[in-house]
Amino acid sequence: MTFNMLDFIEKKRTGKPNTEEELKTLVAKTMSKELPDYQLAAWLMAVCFNGLNDDELMYFTQALADSGERYTFPADMHIVDKHSTGGVGDKATLILLPLASCCGASVSKLSGPALGYTGGTVDKFESIPGMNMKLDSAEFLSQVRRIGCAVSGHSKELAPAEGIFYKLRDVTGTVPSIPLITSSIVSKKLAGGAASYVFDVKCGSGAFMKDRVSAEALARSLVGVSKKLGKNAVAVLTDMEQPLGEWVGNAAEVYEAIEVLSGRGPDDTKELCVTLCGHMLALSGAAASAEEGRKKAEQAIADGSALSKFKEIVASQGGDAEVVRHPLEILPKASKKYQLKETKGGVISRLDALSVGEALRALGGGRMKLGDKIDYSAAIRLNKKIGCAVDAGESVIDVFYNDGEKLKDAISLLEGCWSTEASAEKRSLIIETIA
Ligand code: URA
Repeated sequence: MTFNMLDFIEKKRTGKPNTEEELKTLVAKTMSKELPDYQLAAWLMAVCFNGLNDDELMYFTQALADSGERYTFPADMHIVDKHSTGGVGDKATLILLPLASCCGASVSKLSGPALGYTGGTVDKFESIPGMNMKLDSAEFLSQVRRIGCAVSGHSKELAPAEGIFYKLRDVTGTVPSIPLITSSIVSKKLAGGAASYVFDVKCGSGAFMKDRVSAEALARSLVGVSKKLGKNAVAVLTDMEQPLGEWVGNAAEVYEAIEVLSGRGPDDTKELCVTLCGHMLALSGAAASAEEGRKKAEQAIADGSALSKFKEIVASQGGDAEVVRHPLEILPKASKKYQLKETKGGVISRLDALSVGEALRALGGGRMKLGDKIDYSAAIRLNKKIGCAVDAGESVIDVFYNDGEKLKDAISLLEGCWSTEASAEKRSLIIETIA
């Protein structure tokens, strides 16, 4: 049957399912630029209102993944990939890549640059002098085979149709649709060639999903379509009401990652990483259960093997591996510091992750528009987190900056980003696991 784009859109608008054949044709014609943007946008908007059923989601995801190159690994390598839906201060990939890999899992990590106010793994790793985050597919695959893991920015050749849809969604108000987010994420995972996925679905003010109900729906959708496509998958819902850890900023997050890999660093960052690593090891067969995997991860931090693996990855990708021993000398540092202080004292009851993420971007630590140059040294240190007591006059947030004008914007975002009360509970980081 010939494909009629108008019928295809109207079907979705009136709640009827699109077929496998139609969805494949949609993606093929998008790649060959045969469809005008306004018709693609109309279909995307219809999906926002009427969703995709499980079969449609699977066929659309598969077609996006098949639109370009697909990495393949020998089946016995059991490659595992970890994906975070994006948050503030989320440096987990920097830690998990060496941690899971030194515990016996093979990890392939294709990451995106910063998206909006959330930081990007590519930018964080690039703050290490010399680090190459543009491995071509041959270099990437050969490093995974040689040292058990590799991390790189997305090649344009992987799921290119997804990139076309993503750009359109960005300018047509169609980003926050669970099936569109799911197909976007899982198509890139499929093209990356891993056999299993661990999804860290963030929930809270600094996340895409602001509330538990939508975060849980996204988690179930990610795991559901991955399994339908023959992959092993687990999703962990984690708190993003406040930023993760102590540091937010590209080089500063590398510093915190090295701290955690050295057995120091904040408890919440460590807790997230050993939990996710447990699942990665269980899915890849390197541990009998997530609990056993978690113990292995704790051991690898304690005996120094995770830190050695980090060094090996950095060296293999051309970065200055001495960063492991002398992070403060090697990582870029901002020249000036400004402190935001508590006025009345109490216990921190709110520390808004979104404001902190936006403040870092205002300092130059993220991009306002595509192609903006990042200031890797801009950083925000959270001296107090929710549930911590603070005295009047104590600094809650330290800002490390280079440009006084940018500092003014950051301060206006950070003033009022925390509240204190007479008492407040510490927040639990791990909300729920969906397998
Ligand atoms: N991350 C993605 O890769 N895609 C989305 O649609 C949203 C977040």
